[in-house]
Amino acid sequence: MIEIIPNLRHDINKPLYIQIYEYFKEEILNRKITAGTRLPSHRKLAEHLQVSRNTIELAYQQLLTEGYAESKPKKGLYAADVSYDVMKRKQESFCITAKQKIPAISYDFSQGHVDASVFPLTIWKRITTDCLYTNEERWFTAEDPQGEPELRSELCQYLYHSRGVVCSPDQIVFGAGTQYLLWLLIQLIGTDDEYAMENPGFHRVRAMLQSSSLSVSYIDLDEQGIHVASLQKTNAKTVYITPSHQFPYGMIMPLARRLELLQWANERNGYIIEDDYDGEFRYVGKPIPALQGLDTNERVIYFGTFSKAFLPSVRMSYMILPPALLKIYKERGTIYKQTVSKLHQLTMYHFMKDGHWHRHLSRIRTLYKKKQKALIAAIERYMGNHTEIIGSQSGLHIVLDVKNGMAEEQLIHTAAQYKVKVYPVSLYYADSSPFLSRILIGFGGLTEQEIEEAILLLNKAWFASEE
Ligand SMILES: Cc1ncc(COP(=O)(O)O)c(C=O)c1O
Repeated sequence: MIEIIPNLRHDINKPLYIQIYEYFKEEILNRKITAGTRLPSHRKLAEHLQVSRNTIELAYQQLLTEGYAESKPKKGLYAADVSYDVMKRKQESFCITAKQKIPAISYDFSQGHVDASVFPLTIWKRITTDCLYTNEERWFTAEDPQGEPELRSELCQYLYHSRGVVCSPDQIVFGAGTQYLLWLLIQLIGTDDEYAMENPGFHRVRAMLQSSSLSVSYIDLDEQGIHVASLQKTNAKTVYITPSHQFPYGMIMPLARRLELLQWANERNGYIIEDDYDGEFRYVGKPIPALQGLDTNERVIYFGTFSKAFLPSVRMSYMILPPALLKIYKERGTIYKQTVSKLHQLTMYHFMKDGHWHRHLSRIRTLYKKKQKALIAAIERYMGNHTEIIGSQSGLHIVLDVKNGMAEEQLIHTAAQYKVKVYPVSLYYADSSPFLSRILIGFGGLTEQEIEEAILLLNKAWFASEE
C-alpha cells in the first residue's frame, strides 16, 4: 500500500474529504503516485486516516469525476495517466511561463507595484550614506527591539495628523512585514481564544493565522465591509479587518459599522486588528480617520506599512499595541529581536524629519489619483457596458467584474495572450473558490499611457468576438 501521510487538519473550515481529494490530486499530478498505481481500499484508508468510509468515498468520487483516478471493475481504484491534465493545468495556471508559448508580459497590473519614476531614490541613497557616516557608533550597539526611538516618535506624529491614530511612541513596534508582526501579535494574544478575519481577505494574513494552529472563522462581507452580525455568531475574540479599503473589494467601512465593531470588541473583551495598509490613498471625499482613533477602550491594534506608500522592498511595517498587550510584550523583555535594519530605520527617520516623506506622499497621492482616473476612464471608454468596477474610491487597485461569460482563470489566461497580466480574486477566499468572473487590477506600477494601452488590449482579449 502507498505510504499515505496527508496532514489532515481538523482546525480549519475545509472538509476532510476535500483535503484527502486534494492530497491525492497533487500526488498524482506530481507523479509521486504514478499512473496505474492502485489506490488503497476505502476500508484500509479510512482506518489508516481515522476517518469514516463515507469521507473516503466522497474524496474518491471527486477524483473519479475529475479524471485523476480510474475505476477497474472488481479490482479497485487506480491513479490515472494525467499527462494531458498536467499540460492543461500548466496552461491555465496563474503562473504563466515563457516555455508555454504565451507571449511575454508587457503590462503588469500587479497590486504590489509602486511607481518607480517618482520614487526619490537619489534622496534615499544620499540619506542612507549620510546615516552610515553620522551614526557610526550606533552600528556597534544593540538595536531597540521595538524600533529606533526617534523613528517611532516621528511616525507617531505623522499617524496622528494624517490618520487620526492616537498613541505614544512607546506603543509602536516595528517589524519586517505584516506577516511577521501578526505572528508576534499572536504570541502576545495567545492561541487559546478564537480568531476571525474578513472573507475574502488578505491571503498572507490567512496563511499566517492558519499556520499558527488557531481556530479561525471566516466572516462574509456586505457592502459596508465585514458583517458584524455574522461575527457575533462566532466565538472569536480577535478579528482582522481592512476598514479603510477592504482588501480586495475596496469598500470603505462607514462610521456606523466601525462603531458596531468597537462595541463587539468591548462586549467580548476582544481585539480588532486594523490593517491600514493603504490608508494614505483616498480619491473621493474626505479621508476617513483610522478606527484606532475612535477606540476609547483600548481594543484596536493598528497595523501600518511602508510597502504601499513607500517601497515594498524595504520591509518596514509596524503595529501599535494597546496598553494591555504592550504590558505582555514588555514582560517578555527583549526575547523578540527587531527585524528591520537599523540603517533603514534611521534613514527613514531622517527622510521623514526633513520633509521628504510629506513631499513624497503628496506627489504620489496626486499621481495615483490621476492613474486611477485614467484606469476608470479607459475601462468605461472601451468596455463600459460589459464590466463593473468595484472599489474605486481609494487604494492602489480595483476589482473588475467582466460580463463576457468567462471565469476568472480564463480571463487571466486570455489577457496573458495579449501580454497583459491581471490577477485572481479567488485567491483571497478562504473557502473552495466560488465562481468568479472578476479580476484584480493594480495600477501603481503602470503609467497613464500604459494603462490606456493595456485596457485596449484587455478589451480585445475579452470582447474581440463582439467587435
Ligand atoms: C491587505 C494588505 N495588508 C498589508 C500589506 C503589506 O504587507 P507588508 O507590510 O508585509 O509588506 C499588503 C500588501 O500587499 C496588503 O495587501
